[in-house]
This record gives sequence, C-alpha cells and structure tokens, in this order.
Amino acid sequence: MSTHVLILAAGKGTRMKSARPKVLHHVAGAPMIDYVLATAAALGAATRTVVVGHGGDQLQAALAAQAGLRFVPQEPQLGTAHAVVQAAPLFAGLRGTLVLLSGDVPLLSVETLRALLARHEETGAAATVLTAVVDNPSGYGRIVRAGDEVLRIVEHRDASEAEREIREVNSGVYAFDLEPLFPALGQVASNNAQQEYYLPDLVAIYRRAGRRVSALATGRAEEILGINTRAELAAMSERVWQARRAALMASGVTLEDPATTYVDAGVTVGPDSVIRPGVSLQGRTTIGARAVIHSGVRIVDSALADDVTVLDHCVVVGARLADGSSIGPFAHLRPGSEICAGAKVGNFVELKKTRLGAGSKANHLAYLGDATIGEKVNIGAGTITCNYDGVSKNRTVIEDGVFIGSDTQLIAPVTIGAGAYVAAGSSITNDVPAGALGIARGRQENKEGWATLKKMQQKAEKKQ
Ligand code: UD1
Ligand code: CA
Repeated sequence: MSTHVLILAAGKGTRMKSARPKVLHHVAGAPMIDYVLATAAALGAATRTVVVGHGGDQLQAALAAQAGLRFVPQEPQLGTAHAVVQAAPLFAGLRGTLVLLSGDVPLLSVETLRALLARHEETGAAATVLTAVVDNPSGYGRIVRAGDEVLRIVEHRDASEAEREIREVNSGVYAFDLEPLFPALGQVASNNAQQEYYLPDLVAIYRRAGRRVSALATGRAEEILGINTRAELAAMSERVWQARRAALMASGVTLEDPATTYVDAGVTVGPDSVIRPGVSLQGRTTIGARAVIHSGVRIVDSALADDVTVLDHCVVVGARLADGSSIGPFAHLRPGSEICAGAKVGNFVELKKTRLGAGSKANHLAYLGDATIGEKVNIGAGTITCNYDGVSKNRTVIEDGVFIGSDTQLIAPVTIGAGAYVAAGSSITNDVPAGALGIARGRQENKEGWATLKKMQQKAEKKQ
C-alpha cells in the first residue's frame, strides 16, 4: 500500500497581514513551504499534492519547477477539513496512507514523520496525530486525552479555561488511512468560533464511529512550531540561522559575529575561513578553505576557491573566483564574472559576463562587461568597456600582458592584442595589434603665456 503526501497551503494567513501567500514568506533565506516540500520528498511518497487557494496562482508559479508536484484548488477557504475534501477526487478508490502536512510548519524532520508512520502502522489506527508538549500552547489545538486515548482536539478559540491549561498540542500533521477518510470528512460541521470546517474534529468523529485514533507525542517540540505571524517568522528564522552558524563553526569556520552571519541552507565554507560581521552567503554559494570575507558582503550563487579575499561591502552574484584572487572593497561582480587565480579587482569596479585572467588587475573604478581579459593584464582606473551600442551587446577581447591606461573607453567589438599598450584617456574604436601602442585622444596644445597675459589684463581693467 502506498503513502501519499498532502500539504495544506490555501489559507489566507490573515495574521501575516500580507498580499503574499503565507507559505512563500522566507524562513532563513527560503520560502517556508520549501522546507515542507523537502521533507515530503525525503519521505519518498508515491505522490505529493499541495492544496492552494489564497494567492494560489502566485504559489503555483513559485513551485512550478518542483517536479511531480500536483496542485488542488480550494476556493473559498472554509477550513482545514474543507481543504482536504478538495483533494478527494485524486484519491478516489486508492488505498494506503495519506500523510497530511501543513505548509506553515517548516521544521518537521523526515525522522519524526517516519516515526509517526511507524506508530500509525503499529496501531492500525484510522488516524494518527503528531503532538508535542510545548511551553506556550496558545493558539494551538489542544489534545484532550483520557489516559493513552485521544478523545478529541479542541481549538484554542473554542477551548474552555481548563482545556487551555493543556500543554499537549496538535502539530497539524497527521497520518490517515485513506479508506474511511473522505466519507468521515463529510461529517465535519462548522459550528465553532471561526465557522470553519476543522480537520481536527475528525478525531471525535472517528471515536464516535468506534475507529481507532492514535497519537505520537514527539520530544522534539521545536519541529512542530507553526508560523502564523511575522514575529513567529522572525523567531523561526533565527532558530534556523543559529543552527547553521553552529554547524559552520563546528566544521572549522570562524564567525567573528555569529549573530550577524546569514548563511543559506545550500552554502558550504571550507575550514579556516574567516567571516567578519554582517555577511550574507546565499543560494548555491561555495567557499573554499582560508577565505576571508570582510564586513557587509553579500555573495549569491557563486563559487569561491581557496585563499580568496573579499574586502568590505562587495556584492557578488553568479560569479567564480579562483584560488588566491581578491576583490573589493566595494566591488560588484554580476553573473558570469570569472576572476582567475591571483587576479585582483579593486574598489568601485563592476564586472558582468567577464573573465579576468590569472594575475590580472583592475584596481580602481572600472566597468568591465562582456569582456575576455587575458593573463597579467593591467586595467587602469576609469576604464570602461562600452559593450552596448543601444541595440546589442558586443565583446571586448584583451589579450595577455596588455596595459590599458587610465580613463580608457574600449568601444566594442574590439580586440587589444597581446602585450599592447593603450594610452590613458583613449577612446578605442579599432583593434590594437599585438605589441602596439593604441592612442586615441585629442592632441595637447600649450598656449605660452596665456594665463599670465589674462591676469595682467584683469588688473589693468580694475585700475581704470
Ligand atoms: C491548525 C490546527 C490546530 C493546530 C495548528 C498547528 C485546525 C482547525 N487547527 O491551526 O489544531 O494546533 O494548525 O499549527 O486545523 N489551510 C487551508 N485551507 C483553509 C484553512 C487553512 O489550506 O481553509 C491551511 C493553511 O494555509 C495552513 C494550514 O492549513 O497551511 C493550517 O491553517 P491555519 O489557519 O494556520 O491553522 P491554525 O490556526 O494554525
Ligand atoms: Ca498555522
């Protein structure tokens, strides 16, 4: 018999006060539903389905790249039981287990989910609820027990004073036997504080029908925390960031100020690297050993090799930096930038789709776009590759050993041959052959005595 996963994500998330679907809000750098989808994928279920409603188009577009994911619309959103009912046609005639997850409970691990399934199978229950004992149960559904038996679940808003004292709460995660599920959901009523069809009401319905309901109380209470407000979102992110910081430090990376180091899930950093305060490492970034990443740097989807230095306040997106290269301060590497071994990019330099060869230098104030730059090239201050003619982007090729003087415009397409010099202040429109000097600027003319004469004239005018 197969296992299927259904994820509820149709709710409005009213308490977020957002135009964006709640499950797309980021927890530590990734949409909260990504965590749930990853756990569902790790479970290896036969199918994965998301119930979408509020902001459904936006959500579906955001999840379009997820292979094999199915979507079921819920319109209007009349509660969690109503949400599950929308998926009924997908499961008609199927037998097996439906694992129900909440899009707003991101920390649930696949181990806990497997334990829930094991309990479900062991006990042969019609429904098994994942619960936890928490310090602050406010807002959660409370588990009303008689000994080992779960009698019912009462929502916070509908609970009596005495029931609100219960600290064992519903995680919103369940395993259901598919066979009795959909007929029983038909019996859920909406006579409660929110006038909604509550999925947890199924517990009492099953008990009345003499069906078995079991529960697994996990000791890992933090895994079942749900997110309903921006404050909970921030607290959850902080938890996840902290865990990542701890793991990085344990692996041999120095974080000078862990509290202001933000590292996404997929990022790796090699040993003896040092990360100074206020650094964000995002997306699929990899950093080798002995790197030094100074303050105020953001690196996204980039690969940095060993012994790389990133000075303060650089933005690096979709770039590759080879061994021993160095950039910054205030450098901007845009997608397709490649800094080869030992090359150096200095302050206020922007690169895009440009390869800077081994040992080359662009130390000050330059724009290098759509350029292929060889080894041991010197790019003077104020150099600009004029790569865009208003219609298309053109390439600049600068071969090995070239010296580009300061304040040069290289009007692409153009090639500067190996070992050539380009004089400062040139506007280069034609290729410069290897070994030549390219000079393209107005000739200087000095007017002897011009300034002295002018001053004398001014004095004479004043005396009159
Ligand atoms: C729910 C549970 C509560 C549990 C808590 C755990 C109900 C009635 N209550 O409360 O017992 O302690 O989760 O976090 O189930 N959703 C839909 N369609 C709807 C309504 C909600 O898809 O019509 C989705 C939401 O997008 C969300 C999930 O279901 O992902 C839970 O909904 P939410 O409104 O957050 O329920 P809670 O009040 O947190
Ligand atoms: Ca919730």
